[in-house]
Amino acid sequence: MKKKTHSEKETYDLAKDFAKKLKGGEVLCLVGDLGAGKTAFTKGLAAGLGVKGIVTSPTFVLMKIYPVKSSPAGILLETKLFNGVNKANHRIKEMAHIDAYRLKEGQELINIGAEEYFRDKECVTVIEWADRVKEIWPKGCTKIYFKILNGDERVIEVKK
Ligand SMILES: Nc1ncnc2c1ncn2[C@@H]1O[C@H](COP(=O)(O)OP(=O)(O)OP(=O)(O)O)[C@@H](O)[C@H]1O
Ligand SMILES: [Mg+2]
Repeated sequence: MKKKTHSEKETYDLAKDFAKKLKGGEVLCLVGDLGAGKTAFTKGLAAGLGVKGIVTSPTFVLMKIYPVKSSPAGILLETKLFNGVNKANHRIKEMAHIDAYRLKEGQELINIGAEEYFRDKECVTVIEWADRVKEIWPKGCTKIYFKILNGDERVIEVKK
């Protein structure tokens, strides 16, 4: 998938939509310059997954784990989409948000136990500045590239 967005809101909405395709266990490696929209995308993703609360950049704590709101069982069986939130993927219980901006090597993420989240089928992991820790990208991770064009234009490309 390759899409152009023209505002932060559009990037957010694109990610919110993208979240509905996720099943759990995905590791999303976000690559793009400062201000390219990685955090905006992550916020939309969180909204689409049904994360409650505010998602902020984890630059200082390295990794934040957000619980995904569980859905009422009845509604789950009836409908895939409820309130615009992904209910089909009830398996997803957490979103792990990593910011690798300050890291010199991926080993630092291994040391704090990030791989446990990579492996977790009930978790979706998002890594901002993932290009800084390329050596620890898990097999089969999804790469998402952000390019800044003119002004508010961004190109967002998802590669398997
Ligand atoms: N099409 C767009 N998509 C996303 N953000 C946009 C867009 N157009 C303008 N912006 C602006 O660009 C900035 C994107 O910030 P954001 O924090 O999401 O980037 P980032 O890639 O996470 O940067 P950083 O590397 O500093 O964490 C925001 O100020 C936002 O308002
Ligand atoms: Mg960011």
